[in-house]
Amino acid sequence: MKSRLLKLLRQNKAPVSSEDLEGKLEIDNASLTEQISELQDAGYEIITSKNGYRLLKDNDLLFPWEFPERESKIHYFREVSSTMDIARDLAQKGCPDFTVVIAELQSKGRGRLQRVWQSEQGGLYFTIVLRPDMAPLKSFRINFAASLVLATVLRERFHVDAKVKWPNDILVDGMKISGMLSEMEAEAGKLSFINLGIGINVNNDPGEYEQRATSIKKCIGKRVSRRNLLSCFLDELEKRTAGRSLDNIISQWKKHSATLGKHVRVVTVQDTLEGLAVDVDENGTLILKQADGTLKPVIYGDCFH
Ligand code: BTN
Repeated sequence: MKSRLLKLLRQNKAPVSSEDLEGKLEIDNASLTEQISELQDAGYEIITSKNGYRLLKDNDLLFPWEFPERESKIHYFREVSSTMDIARDLAQKGCPDFTVVIAELQSKGRGRLQRVWQSEQGGLYFTIVLRPDMAPLKSFRINFAASLVLATVLRERFHVDAKVKWPNDILVDGMKISGMLSEMEAEAGKLSFINLGIGINVNNDPGEYEQRATSIKKCIGKRVSRRNLLSCFLDELEKRTAGRSLDNIISQWKKHSATLGKHVRVVTVQDTLEGLAVDVDENGTLILKQADGTLKPVIYGDCFH
């Protein structure tokens, strides 16, 4: 109901009369008033006059009704510790594939290698619960597919020159615009779920606390709709991954890589390695050519170009 009501209000710059809305939505006046007041309470700026209702501003909110095709699988919160925590709980309780947990703010947003992920207003912070029919050892392919899809959406729909950085960051002009984190659970050799947490700097200003980071707003000089971005990304990711084994995802990912051919420093849990990034193999492992000419495979780490 709310998605249809918002659609009607968005189609009109002028106020829409209550008779018109009641007729199109096939509801009575009491229900219409209730729906309008719930939207106003949720943060939509709707003004009421003798001519009807007018939506002044929708504040780019991410309520489930903003994603009508996937409404029942969207969980939207004002503030959480981390969307990873909520998603893990939902996944363990058996939520369906492609459940999405979104938060406006995270008090304990986390990054890879135990780093903090700053999550201030204007960014996009979400975790997708995925249940692919895939061996746990191949689940890394999901992360590569997601970073490739996100970079493609940013380039093709938002005109941002996005590239992927090993393992799954997105960079624009060498600055980080998005990071991904995944957690998975397997049972009896079978993947139960893989939760993919994604943070995207959209309309926020990450440069204030992180020098080597940027946002879409900074790159293109205007605010963009987080709703539109999330919706495009989820649709494309679903198309790309549904029922696929993602056999050739690494070779596709490599075509958009900002890492290959660069001299990099990789910080792992144990040590720091340096070398020329010569390849990413079929297992998602980064191959470094070290100063003495030896090839060093790196499975997990944080890569600095
Ligand atoms: C990284 O670059 O180190 C990964 C960052 C991942 C951040 C996202 S924001 C949504 C989800 N919730 C979290 O606490 N982290 C991920």
